[in-house]
Amino acid sequence: MADAAQRRPHPTTPTINTGRMMMTRFLIMGVVFLAMNVSKMFKTDKDVVPLTAETWPQYIAEHPYQGKGPVTNRSPCPMLNTLANHGILNNSGKDITKKQLIDALTRLNLGPQFGVLFTEGVFWMYHDKKALPDWISQLSTLDLAQLQKHNAIEHDVSYTRQDFDVAGDDASADPNLIFQFTQFANETGYIDLAQAGNARRLRELQSKRDNPDLVYNLFYKFFGSGSECALLLNVIGRNMAVSVDHFNKFFKEERFPDDWTPPEENFSFVRLTKATYQCYQSWSNSKETLAKEKQIEASQEKVRLVQQQ
Ligand code: HEM
Ligand SMILES: *[C@@H]1O[C@H](CO)[C@@H](O)[C@H](O)[C@H]1NC(C)=O
Ligand SMILES: *[C@@H]1O[C@H](CO)[C@@H](O)[C@H](O)[C@H]1NC(C)=O
Ligand SMILES: *[C@@H]1O[C@H](CO)[C@@H](O)[C@H](O)[C@H]1NC(C)=O
Repeated sequence: MADAAQRRPHPTTPTINTGRMMMTRFLIMGVVFLAMNVSKMFKTDKDVVPLTAETWPQYIAEHPYQGKGPVTNRSPCPMLNTLANHGILNNSGKDITKKQLIDALTRLNLGPQFGVLFTEGVFWMYHDKKALPDWISQLSTLDLAQLQKHNAIEHDVSYTRQDFDVAGDDASADPNLIFQFTQFANETGYIDLAQAGNARRLRELQSKRDNPDLVYNLFYKFFGSGSECALLLNVIGRNMAVSVDHFNKFFKEERFPDDWTPPEENFSFVRLTKATYQCYQSWSNSKETLAKEKQIEASQEKVRLVQQQ
């Protein structure tokens, strides 16, 4: 846990702390926003075709991994970072247009519902607050690092990122947290819905213990953690489970694993919402305790000993 004096000040405007206020704001903004964007959610750009198991290998061969970009040009999102590391989004992580982001997500078969909604949402959420009228102005382009802004989309209790107020860095994956998550796998090396709930509960208990400035309200529990768990188990993984292998590749290297392909079925809004709710439920039902830390430390020690030999 970081000393209070060492903490970086928040790079944010004042935080909205109460879950109910955020939910209300979210719902009002959501209605306005849907009205503005609904027409776009049902058409795709004809030039951009979702990639399949057949077309992906060729595409990824043309977009090779260029190494892990510096955290100053990256986001707390493993998927957006991966896209930039392969040059599918600009490798610089900077000056990304709305169309580039929507196209990238469409190629992963996440368009147009998810792609348009998330992209429009992001360009709207991070716009220059001085621009008027406030609620219809948008960013012209996005830098991935803008997504590091604490308590905007970025939130506490991430699977692999430390809380901003604990580490002063909410964007880099912490190797210990990556290891921690993998310790929830079953004997065949998969983390399923129930275990993803347990992993999140452990993170929550750790944050409650270590982070006096913890913000983890209903908004972040449901829309934040819930949707990220849904994406992890269905887009990085498949059918509500992710393999340790794929998890490690995506989170350690921020790289598409060789045997990964985009999901075959559109990740529609209905599917995202259902999986988000299931993730939220599995966290709510989890009986995980901090005692799990001892077991994780023991496994980590075992790995260290093996590596020394
Ligand atoms: C416009 C699209 C997207 C935006 C703006 C975005 C943004 C973000 C941000 C800001 C976070 C950090 C939240 C935190 O504090 O933990 C995050 C986390 C995450 N994102 Fe994305 N994301 C997008 C699309 C995707 C997609 C397509 C996937 C698919 C796999 C994905 C998977 C994840 C996962 C698994 C996490 C959780 C990481 C963790 O808990 O350690 N995201 N995303
Ligand atoms: C990628 O970003 C760099 C630096 O910001 C810029 O010069 C370049 O034009 C961008 N490329 C594309 C394809 O947008
Ligand atoms: C581990 O989880 C995966 C995904 O849910 C499942 O297919 C597999 O059968 C499980 N293995 C064991 C040993 O339970
Ligand atoms: C699924 O993908 C097809 C092809 O791009 C598109 O026409 C359709 O609207 C998508 N459906 C959803 C729910 O996103």
